[in-house]
Amino acid sequence: MSYFSTVPQAPPDGILKLSVLSRADSDPSKVDLGVGAYRDDNGKPWVLPVVREAERRLNEDPNYNHEYMGVGGLPALTDGAQQLIFGSNSPAIGQGRVYTIQTISGTGANMVAAVFLKQFKRPADAAVYISKPTWGNHRSIFETAGHEVREYKYCNYKTLTLDIDGMLDDMRSAPEGQIFVLHACAHNPTGIDPTEEQWQQIADVMSERGHFPFFDCAYQGFATGDVDRDAYAIRLFVDRGFELLVAESFAKNMGLYGERTGCLHAVCQSSDVIPQVSSQLNRLSRATISTASAYGAKIAATVLQDPRLYEEWLQSMQDMSQRIKTMRDALRDKLVALGTPGSWDHVSQQIGMFSFTGLSKLQVDTLRNQYHLYMTDDGRISVAGLNSHNIDYVAQSIDAVVRSS
Ligand code: LMR
Repeated sequence: MSYFSTVPQAPPDGILKLSVLSRADSDPSKVDLGVGAYRDDNGKPWVLPVVREAERRLNEDPNYNHEYMGVGGLPALTDGAQQLIFGSNSPAIGQGRVYTIQTISGTGANMVAAVFLKQFKRPADAAVYISKPTWGNHRSIFETAGHEVREYKYCNYKTLTLDIDGMLDDMRSAPEGQIFVLHACAHNPTGIDPTEEQWQQIADVMSERGHFPFFDCAYQGFATGDVDRDAYAIRLFVDRGFELLVAESFAKNMGLYGERTGCLHAVCQSSDVIPQVSSQLNRLSRATISTASAYGAKIAATVLQDPRLYEEWLQSMQDMSQRIKTMRDALRDKLVALGTPGSWDHVSQQIGMFSFTGLSKLQVDTLRNQYHLYMTDDGRISVAGLNSHNIDYVAQSIDAVVRSS
């Protein structure tokens, strides 16, 4: 009998399975709206011009090598990433009470944070609260790290808008000092973000109840196209005096998906605790990835530290987020023009990479099996997968399936 025979089968990942299914589908009308990755108007991945330029510089640098990086990562990346998230004039950075460690993209940042919190959270029995719904991997990450995971209300499934009252009620009724995972912007999977006023209400309740905020920031620049506006919630919480953690990813906003480039930031009340916090984060990182990964970090650092490349990058984020907005409006307009039963305004109103369409699991299955249109089981589409060539087909397919069900 195999040593491994008692290992139970794990369920397939709800997002990544779609890429496998779609790759195996040779139908010419196939449209992959599964994984959240930016595509251009021809449905192709886009290497940002600033990334190409940074790669060229790296390749031509006579001092370029493949030496180990430090455990904490590349300082040019971690410093630039701090300023991007908290703002270049951030008092918290100036006071030396922010520590940043480079991670394996946003997922690695989530995992380092999850293990760190499991070891040091106060109270020790605090649960981790994730939004209902949330990115499919959040539960898995926090449960794998040994936390009890609970949900807080987020989406009103009837109106496909934010259930702010339900969210605040759940925050109020949770025991004091719980850990809340908040999406900094461009909520995944719903595309529904709190307004600035609602973020203030959330901060009020979190503060009253002594909850600990953990921000997952995978889409800075993708929601509004403006990195500062997309960091509003994080900066508000820092201004309000919260201690917090932020997971930051450069997968989407720099298009460095496979390079696994990201950071975890810890904002502490005072610089006194930074040596302890940084030593533990470094220890955890050393135990899991040893030293930070180099290639994506060098690219991202080059972009962040060069004023001309940085400006050009801001423009690329505007371009990507604008194309996504154009596709949202186009899909809504086409569904309205077709007279597709239901209201489709939410597709335009939602923000970021995704739209939570409201399509049922049955409709999603039919779209996948009969129309070769791939989206996650919860009806989420990656709007970045829409383009001027496939938008009519997508709208017509959704129309047909909604009418027949
Ligand atoms: C997604 O939600 O599609 C992306 O964040 C990719 C991923 O790793 O799940």
